[in-house]
Amino acid sequence: MSERNGFLFCADPLSASRPDPQFAEDIAAARAAGGRIALLDHDALLAGDAAGAVARVARDSGPYWYRGWMIPSARYAQLETALGARGCTLLTDAVGYRRAHELPGWYEEFDGLTPRSVWCAVAPGGPPPAADELAGLVAPLGTGPGIVKDFVKSRKHEWDEACYVPALADHHQLASVVDRFVDLQGDFLAGGLVLRAFEPFAAGGEARVWWVDGEAVLVTAHPDTPGLRPAPELSSVREAVGRLGLRWVTTDLALREDGVWRVVEVGDGQVSGCPAGAGTADLFAALAAAGAR
Ligand SMILES: Nc1ncnc2c1ncn2[C@@H]1O[C@H](COP(=O)(O)OP(=O)(O)OP(=O)(O)O)[C@@H](O)[C@H]1O
Ligand SMILES: [Mg+2]
Repeated sequence: MSERNGFLFCADPLSASRPDPQFAEDIAAARAAGGRIALLDHDALLAGDAAGAVARVARDSGPYWYRGWMIPSARYAQLETALGARGCTLLTDAVGYRRAHELPGWYEEFDGLTPRSVWCAVAPGGPPPAADELAGLVAPLGTGPGIVKDFVKSRKHEWDEACYVPALADHHQLASVVDRFVDLQGDFLAGGLVLRAFEPFAAGGEARVWWVDGEAVLVTAHPDTPGLRPAPELSSVREAVGRLGLRWVTTDLALREDGVWRVVEVGDGQVSGCPAGAGTADLFAALAAAGAR
């Protein structure tokens, strides 16, 4: 058997020498696929100590896939550098991670398949754009309902106050939802502000499709609705994933009320959540065996 890729999992915050039990199923699948396991101190990485975060990774033991909790794009770049200093590489580099993880990075390739979106930079903890600036920004989205999020996450659990805008034409209402969103995100606001045209989706949940080197190797439910796993039509999404050209990504697909499958968002597969019991054996087998590029 040829050399398998390794997997860098998060360590258990309570026991640095053990993997985080939240990822036990994935670790078992990675081991079964013959991949080496190494551990990352995610808390140390997010605190700015990238060298300390990878201190347990053996020298010259790469290449690695990362698998674990989300990492802000700038911290991922520090992870890449710290691993490089130990003679190890990541199979998804920092530029690729940012492209899949943040909406402005993947939007162009999925234009036409995903709700129309606009964005602007906002500093974490900084002020939201002024109301007239927002009005100009959303003009291409029309006057109907909209969705507010940052480059990575929404506040969907605060739907009415910080996520959903009933009418983008109501600039006062728009500014109020945006202000609340920016305020609640605080220092955790990722990249900037995204505004999207709202599209009515049918009940039935989102399918999370896992792509490795352009192939759909697994379809799971979205972790929010683990009991619902729709079976989407994938041909146009496959083309867009090919254009994006990244090695391990996810796409979340929802059926619009008019019967068209839509891409709700794209993610870096390394940090996409997977519902318990989804069966990741084939996914990890594909990842372990993925060739050098
Ligand atoms: N443009 C849209 N039109 C209709 N519904 C939307 C739109 N954007 C988001 N939603 C709804 O809001 C939910 C959260 O949006 P989104 O997935 O973009 O945010 P998120 O916080 O990154 O979620 P997660 O990472 O948990 O998937 C979606 O699952 C979908 O139900
Ligand atoms: Mg989502």
